[in-house]
Amino acid sequence: MTMQSRILMTGANGQLGRYFQAAFAGQQWFVPAGRHSSSSGSMAFDLEDEKQTQDAIALASPDIVIHAASLTDVDGCEKDRKAAWRANVLATRNLVGAMAKAVPSARLVYLSTDQVYPGPGPSIEDKALPQTIYAMTKMWAEDAALSFGNALAVRINFVAAGTPARIGLADWLVQSLAEKRTVTLFEDVLFNPLYAGDLPALVVALAKSGERRVVNLGCAGEGMSKADFARGLARRLSLPLDSAKSGRLSDGELAAQRPLDTRMDVQRAERILAASLPDAEAVMDRMAADIGRRRDKAA
Ligand SMILES: NC(=O)c1ccc[n+]([C@@H]2O[C@H](COP(=O)([O-])OP(=O)(O)OC[C@H]3O[C@@H](n4cnc5c(N)ncnc54)[C@H](OP(=O)(O)O)[C@@H]3O)[C@@H](O)[C@H]2O)c1
Repeated sequence: MTMQSRILMTGANGQLGRYFQAAFAGQQWFVPAGRHSSSSGSMAFDLEDEKQTQDAIALASPDIVIHAASLTDVDGCEKDRKAAWRANVLATRNLVGAMAKAVPSARLVYLSTDQVYPGPGPSIEDKALPQTIYAMTKMWAEDAALSFGNALAVRINFVAAGTPARIGLADWLVQSLAEKRTVTLFEDVLFNPLYAGDLPALVVALAKSGERRVVNLGCAGEGMSKADFARGLARRLSLPLDSAKSGRLSDGELAAQRPLDTRMDVQRAERILAASLPDAEAVMDRMAADIGRRRDKAA
């Protein structure tokens, strides 16, 4: 496959999808797809609707599908299991069915989550044991996607700017610290995210690799706590930490009991890509630079 492969991305209006749209803006071979049309050249269809999905895939005739659409609200999935099933599992089954019919030799990349790991991390790919409805439906969807054959499931975590519909962790932190609102920094939640802006190239490289298994994709090294991420970002953006207090997620009460250490071992991805992934310091540098750029633009 060449760089000119026609790539359709579902969930393109989401947090991560917007970074793909920015990275591949103006490229005819990139087709962003969402429930609602976002730009000229984009497609709109509901993946929970089998017929709409079949018509859309037949019309787009992609070489590669990057499937990012999902119900990502972890507590929301716990509260409405049917919605979680429809958005994560049924949608993926519909996509696989549509691809099998219209583009059987295309490539499917399913974007999954580090939330499937119970910890302690860094977890290798076969250590998944999902605890929440969100993570379970993501794993069922992985299976559905891999049943397509020429498919890959990529378990990710990323930091990104939020969307109008959903404020991201980094934006929330920066706003709260700048306004000196009290924030609790979770010392007991460990993760190894990548910067969202690095994912388009990495995911496309994995799509073109021919790999057909599950692959972890996060930052290299030991990862960090959410508290360290917050402190690192604040330092880079010269934000005061006076209103921040240390805390533990395990002390709070959430609808879905999340795993505390979802750090992923990324050696498989590094072998496939034949490259080192950025480490936690580089991720914080890039996220801070992203926030700085958006601040300058807004000023
Ligand atoms: N955010 C993270 O930190 C994180 C971490 C690990 C893994 N992931 C995975 O990465 C992927 C992207 O995450 P994200 O944060 O960008 O998600 P997001 O912001 O919640 O966006 C998800 C998108 O999926 C679309 N969608 C949902 N149901 C659909 C349907 N039936 N038909 C068509 N589109 C539908 C939504 O459309 P509407 O806008 O119309 O609702 C939304 O634009 C997901 O697969 C997620 O599980 C995310």
